[in-house]
Amino acid sequence: GIPDFVKIVEVGPRDGLQNEKSIVPTDVKVELIKLLVSSGLSVIEATSFVSPKWVPQLADAKDVLEGIQDVEGVSFPVLTPNLKGFEAAVAAGAKEVAVFPAASESFSKANLNSGIEDNLARCRDIASASRSYSIPIRGYISCVVGCPFEGHVAPAKVAYVAKALNEMGCSEISLGDTIGVGTPGTVVPMLEAVLDVVPVDKLAVHFHDTYGQALSNTLISLQMGISVVDSSVSGLGGCPYAKGATGNVATEDVVYMLDGIGVKTNVDLGKLMQAGDFICKHLGRASNSRAATALSKF
Ligand code: HMG
Ligand code: MG
Repeated sequence: GIPDFVKIVEVGPRDGLQNEKSIVPTDVKVELIKLLVSSGLSVIEATSFVSPKWVPQLADAKDVLEGIQDVEGVSFPVLTPNLKGFEAAVAAGAKEVAVFPAASESFSKANLNSGIEDNLARCRDIASASRSYSIPIRGYISCVVGCPFEGHVAPAKVAYVAKALNEMGCSEISLGDTIGVGTPGTVVPMLEAVLDVVPVDKLAVHFHDTYGQALSNTLISLQMGISVVDSSVSGLGGCPYAKGATGNVATEDVVYMLDGIGVKTNVDLGKLMQAGDFICKHLGRASNSRAATALSKF
């Protein structure tokens, strides 16, 4: 059945802002994160320690962490693709990191300039480094149901990467529909394959909403016992190496749905909307959250 409590992992400052054409100033990122903290979110992915040549939008990763160093009681994981990124993240005060292999070979090369196996080897290096610092490590898997280059991705490929991440000691494994093509028709078989190799309490889901399927996919995942959901305030986001992919499911829409079915999140929808308003005004665009748009009109 559906869990009583769902932990929301807010990824807007990272997954959202990595895909903005304009570079958002550091102080705006820091203010956004602080507004998100006020809404009650307990995990906010803050930024990435990736190559600034690949993702110039997040080149200020160190400064963003410095700007939130006094904020207590909230986890601020950051993406680290290699040991160089891991070491920079730790030096900047990161207390949680995430690695992000893909289930598809072509996407792995496009996103990380390395194939699945090479990348898993890098993830293992990061995992053993993180163990020596006692830093929890999250593992994402990209393209869990579809790849922009290869089309449908077989559930067995996802299960293979999930098992590898579990064995290297990831505390949580987030299953990413990077390009938002999944429906419950493809998500359920994928989850079944992953649940054969990883315990349900270690799994999270990460749906992009390109085809408008993210809330359905989220609900079906909850029905299968998953209790961690990634989302992005105002539905910001996309992936710079997955052309045409839109943002994550909007956090406001997830909270609205969970409020409606009586699942606790500890997130205040009104305060969340203030964070969404703030960043949308800065970006000069309308929110991608249907709930926030409706609630601010009526
Ligand atoms: P590469 O070009 O093979 O790297 O890229 P390299 O090791 O050859 O180094 C090239 C240059 O980058 C060097 O600088 C390095 O020092 C520098 P140069 O000598 O030319 O001046 N460099 C770095 N600088 C800062 N931090 C680092 C770092 N590493 C190297 N960590 C690399 C390989 C992995 C670095 C690159 O491909 C990369 O940064 N990729 C990240 C792409 C990315 O962030 N994508 C978006 C996140 S994934 C996502 O959105 C999906 C997700 O949301 C889940 C889902 O939706 O499914 C997680
Ligand atoms: Mg993503």
